[in-house]
Amino acid sequence: MKEEKIHGLDLSVMRPLIEGLLKNMEGGVFIIDTDMRIMSFNKAAEWITGYCLDEVLGKPCYEIFKSSICEDQCPFDKVIKKGTPVNMRDVPIVGKDGIRITTSRSWFHLEDVHKKTRGLVVIFRDITELTNLRQQLLQSEKLAVMGQLAAGVAHEINNPINGIITYIHLMLKKLDHNDVDPEVWKKNLKLVERETVRIGRLVKNLLNFSRKTEPDLRPVSLSKLIEETLPLLEDQFLIKDINVTKTSDDRIPEILADFNQLQQVVINLILNAVQAVEKKGTIKITLSAEGTKGSECFVNLRISDNGVGIPKEDMNKIFDPFYTTKTSDKGGVGLGLSIAEQIIKAHHGRITLNSEIAKGTEVSVRLPTM
Ligand SMILES: Nc1ncnc2c1ncn2[C@@H]1O[C@H](COP(=O)(O)OP(=O)(O)OP(=O)(O)O)[C@@H](O)[C@H]1O
Ligand SMILES: [Mg+2]
Repeated sequence: MKEEKIHGLDLSVMRPLIEGLLKNMEGGVFIIDTDMRIMSFNKAAEWITGYCLDEVLGKPCYEIFKSSICEDQCPFDKVIKKGTPVNMRDVPIVGKDGIRITTSRSWFHLEDVHKKTRGLVVIFRDITELTNLRQQLLQSEKLAVMGQLAAGVAHEINNPINGIITYIHLMLKKLDHNDVDPEVWKKNLKLVERETVRIGRLVKNLLNFSRKTEPDLRPVSLSKLIEETLPLLEDQFLIKDINVTKTSDDRIPEILADFNQLQQVVINLILNAVQAVEKKGTIKITLSAEGTKGSECFVNLRISDNGVGIPKEDMNKIFDPFYTTKTSDKGGVGLGLSIAEQIIKAHHGRITLNSEIAKGTEVSVRLPTM
């Protein structure tokens, strides 16, 4: 029988080469047939999952990997029918020992030399550690920003508390003198109520922000997000007497995003602007949509300030983790922009900065629409 050839190379030469490559490569690889049964499982797949080849051969892949994507997001049909490869990040699987492993995966169509579909090849990598580190970094940055917010909130809470104490003293004094005019009491209690609600709202905002959440992609209106975020920063604007304006196109399409993560980005960027301007500075927030009306492809959020600006020679460092020009008493950790960049990239967006020394800085965040 005539030996088949691939690109001029005999299969007899290619086979051991491919088998060796598959066996020894660092990425996990497995092959499933058209019934989703595992036909091949390399060494790295064993390391990652804890299963041995013998245990998985012939078993359906969903029984082995027990991934949450198996139920409704399995790309099997798409890859088999269309022949197009699919890549996914953050695919959770369960190892043999029951431990959750986060993987990144690529699926592609496997056909033989006669162009007959034989199944799928899946290449995967264990990115659990990477994902955990990313989460930790996000959380530590959040804590740093929270410290700054908490200082502002503490300052804000002090005023209503003083008001509440004053009214309580006043009412106690009136009680001492048997002066219990219901109308006056009602008025005073209403004031106490109003101030207490104000404190509650401040604390709730801070708690919402600090809560650690898994990335949760949902339709998000950037316009609403900004409206809900500005009150969190109000005390920062008040302290420095900063004029903040927000302008927006009529129609801003929704984007698919993690609300909390994007809020973290917006807070970081606005805090940078606040820290860059002098007293009575100006911060402009602009929202616009790009592309033809009705089918806009990007939403653009710009935050510009008339602050100190960034020297040209520093522009290539500002996204580096821990790069800061702020003194520690101002709370600079140097993580704000690097985290913002990471989050925006994870949303398939871009973040860019334009700056002129002594004139100001404009940050632009472009995010794809749904
Ligand atoms: N709007 C801005 N105007 C002027 N300089 C800026 C602006 N935004 C960022 N920078 C510069 O980029 C550096 C890095 O910013 P980044 O937000 O990453 O860290 P940080 O603000 O110093 O600290 P953190 O955000 O962790 O509290 C800042 O220290 C500052 O020098
Ligand atoms: Mg910052």
